[in-house]
Amino acid sequence: MSLRFDGGAEDLHGHAPAGLVEIARAVGLEAASFVAARRPAGRVPVAATKSSPTDVVTEVDRACEELIRERLLRQRPDDGFVGEEGDDVPGTSGVDWIVDPIDGTVNFVYGIPAYAVSIAASIAGRPVAGHVVNIATGQEWGAVAGGGAWRWEGRGRTVLQAPEPPGLDQMLIGTGFSYVRSIREHQAAAVAALLPHVRDVRRIGSAALDLCALAEGRLDGYVEQGLHPWDLAAGGLVASEAGVRLGGLEGGPDLRLTMGAHPVVSKEYFDLVRTCGF
Ligand code: IPD
Ligand code: CA
Ligand code: CA
Repeated sequence: MSLRFDGGAEDLHGHAPAGLVEIARAVGLEAASFVAARRPAGRVPVAATKSSPTDVVTEVDRACEELIRERLLRQRPDDGFVGEEGDDVPGTSGVDWIVDPIDGTVNFVYGIPAYAVSIAASIAGRPVAGHVVNIATGQEWGAVAGGGAWRWEGRGRTVLQAPEPPGLDQMLIGTGFSYVRSIREHQAAAVAALLPHVRDVRRIGSAALDLCALAEGRLDGYVEQGLHPWDLAAGGLVASEAGVRLGGLEGGPDLRLTMGAHPVVSKEYFDLVRTCGF
């Protein structure tokens, strides 16, 4: 499944993204409280490993995804559901929920305060409503396709407009690494090639939070290989609705490559990223 971050009102097939984002927010906040209440002091036990010995899942990731799926499909039983940890549920309504119950599981395990619940509704592969909440800090972001992106401040919203970054050599770049050793080796070489051309690189550990940071100018650019739809859907919508251009190797972002930057530098930055071998 690859995602599109463009399109018009005709692609919404009569669904109202404003209602979907309210549902995403209510469920996202409940899920964040659920996770926060279940985090023990110290290091969280790992339940299993997935694509590699460092790709971990905890019982809290699994229980959180079950809670989110139950809450969403109870309200909207005809929708589809794609989550990181469980089986996909096909739907008939045309709306699919794309969910990462904890984006930043390694941070959750270690107690580093950058892990998030990420919930997006998508229609025909286009995210149309998204909500991201940092479980540790309570910071929240939302977006609807064609309706902008914002940061929640209690009951109010601050509309986000990604600021114009400084020149390429002054850009602060967010990135991340695959759990698979052979891919990491490749990514490490590409990041080493990128580093001399930019201000610096940050590896925060949650792609959803990276994309929200990009939307509000706490990062100037982003690059990562191996992002799945649940890593990208909600944060990518927040970024694109804030005016960030998203791209991939050829066209839109996908598993192979996700890049993001303000349109004034995106062409130059995307060319640089490709030149570095990502
Ligand atoms: C990971 C985080 C990380 C990114 C990885 C993702 P997870 O998600 O978003 O920042 O670099 O590619 O897999 O495993 O913590 O849900
Ligand atoms: Ca993730
Ligand atoms: Ca996850």
